[in-house]
Amino acid sequence: MKDSYYEHIIHGGDYNPDQWINTKEIWDEDMRLMDLAHINSATVGIFSWSLLEPEEGVYSFSWLDEIMDKLDRHGKKVILSTPSGARPPWMAEKYPEVLRVSENGIRNEYGVRHNHCLASPVYRKKVSEINRALAERYKDHPALFMWHISNEYSGECHCELCQQAFREWLKKEYDNDIEKLNFKWWGGFWSHRYSSFSQISSPKDRGENHVPALKLAWKRFVTDSHISFYENEIAPIRELTPEIPVTTNLMRFYNGIDYQKLSEHLDIVSWDNYPEWTHPDFLGIACETAFAHDIFRSMKNGKPFYMMESTPSLINWRPVNKLPASGITELAAIQAVAHGADSVQYFQWRKGRGGHEKFHGAVVDHCGKEDTRVFRDTEKLGRVLSQLDRAVGSRTKARAAVICDWENSWAVEGYCGYRRDGRDYFKVCERWYRAFWERGIPADVVPMDRDISGYDIVVAPYLYMLKDGTVQRLSSFVQNGGTLIATCLTGIADRDDLCYLGGFPAEELKDVFGVWCEETDSLYDDELSRIAYGEKEYKGTELCDILHLIGGETLGSFLSGFYKGSPAVTKNSYGKGEAYYVAFCPGDDFISDFISPLADKKGLLPDINASLPKGVIARKRGELIYLMNFTSQSKTVDFGETYTDHLTKSVLTSAVLPEYGYLILE
Ligand code: GLA
Ligand code: ZN
Repeated sequence: MKDSYYEHIIHGGDYNPDQWINTKEIWDEDMRLMDLAHINSATVGIFSWSLLEPEEGVYSFSWLDEIMDKLDRHGKKVILSTPSGARPPWMAEKYPEVLRVSENGIRNEYGVRHNHCLASPVYRKKVSEINRALAERYKDHPALFMWHISNEYSGECHCELCQQAFREWLKKEYDNDIEKLNFKWWGGFWSHRYSSFSQISSPKDRGENHVPALKLAWKRFVTDSHISFYENEIAPIRELTPEIPVTTNLMRFYNGIDYQKLSEHLDIVSWDNYPEWTHPDFLGIACETAFAHDIFRSMKNGKPFYMMESTPSLINWRPVNKLPASGITELAAIQAVAHGADSVQYFQWRKGRGGHEKFHGAVVDHCGKEDTRVFRDTEKLGRVLSQLDRAVGSRTKARAAVICDWENSWAVEGYCGYRRDGRDYFKVCERWYRAFWERGIPADVVPMDRDISGYDIVVAPYLYMLKDGTVQRLSSFVQNGGTLIATCLTGIADRDDLCYLGGFPAEELKDVFGVWCEETDSLYDDELSRIAYGEKEYKGTELCDILHLIGGETLGSFLSGFYKGSPAVTKNSYGKGEAYYVAFCPGDDFISDFISPLADKKGLLPDINASLPKGVIARKRGELIYLMNFTSQSKTVDFGETYTDHLTKSVLTSAVLPEYGYLILE
């Protein structure tokens, strides 16, 4: 599999010329403006089905031919989309089965987008036909660069076809053995022993929503339904354009689909990045975004990804849609590249006149002019990106990893007990990631079934669910010299949410950590646990594990609760490595103080050998070091050694980074 597909960073985004079909002079103006803004790519056809197939079986490609040719003449790479994200009205009218049935059992009417059944044979056939027609038509077009399959796959359908498919899926999953399912689903509880697969339906409020294993199975099924829908979409594309890479755009921490599993089917991962850059906690937003980039980068073992969408100015869907100050879009783009993106793409090129998204930011505003703040910023960024060919295809080698697993997020957010509110598994993982990020130490963010043997430090926060092989992988990691850190809520249940017996964490993890947990306490929202660790006192939230030592040693203890004095931080030597158990839910201060000496001990060095002011973050990718100021004040950095500014070629030993400024160093 190739690491890069183009010699330049892709600079482009969603382009909807079909909305301007009656004012074609705009198309020529678009080409002129794209050239000016150093745009080298356009993503077209995402929601074009009703124009491409205005009547069943009658295709109309002339407008797209014209656009593809124009884009090609202007040297733009076309990312061609399949239109399955939204369908023409005639289709829903003639074949109601293509529409989704929601959880309440009622079929949706025609409307919005992403409103389709994943199992409908009619819909799959229609999608396959239009995709084949597109691939036939453009397979030899010189501008065709990449396929963008559908748009932000999401949601689920509860129609009878999907129920049938779910039952067939369950039969495979449980070897067609209903007693096996009854055992794994703990069917003795509330008289839930099924005698046939036909008695099982999708989880829903008016039906079954209290069987944890059913809810997990359904999420796995929905993931597999999306994958099979996607495979159906790409079959004609693979057949006709085997050399053209395929992606679909993902949405940050959307957990309705196991993205880590879906990503295995993509040639390149791409995602849509909409941080709330106008939030007062700018640094927090920067960390969350870095974490997301690293999740997507890690999906394909560090292979560069695309930032398929981002806004060049504001968005339209938050309660308040504030304008980000100039410089922020540029910094966000540089952050994406620093973390492994080979593209900076926008939603959208030109604002539509009507429709739900007419106030969403775009490079070209309703005024239609280039003499705007956003256009000038885009043009400037385009110039910078055109100087970053050296970044394309390059990678970052991380020696640390945070395990953040999609299936585990379902389990952590799904069980009933302890604290029922405020569970945000991705946030908890991000807090641990932050300790590395702030130090400029790159970290991968990986699912629990990834080979972790190459890392020095692995943090596995809230590893509640263990998939087959996880215990073995974690214990041999430590055995062979790795440093492993786990937290409260580790090793509780298997993939069907059946609790492990014999004390938590499961099986040999007790030997690895040298502890076992007898009880777990939950804290009220305004309650904090107090922990003595080193010379300091720290506070925790949410949960506290009450541990017994079985070989491990205490590094820190609880100062609060009836379990005052019991171990809150432990360490155990196991084989050639060390395993730490943090029995509470710490804040940034503890995590930072705790990780720092471990990283030092393992020789995990920051990407730049300079002490950086708070809010200035360094990240090395390939041969370039990106220094980013995520604050609204200018910051001075002394490098202690000599670097060359990659963009200006000046030689530097120190620099002043303006607010939201950055430097790219060689
Ligand atoms: C998503 C979609 C786009 C558009 C943007 C608006 O990412 O993929 O079509 O709706 O959001 O922010
Ligand atoms: Zn359905």
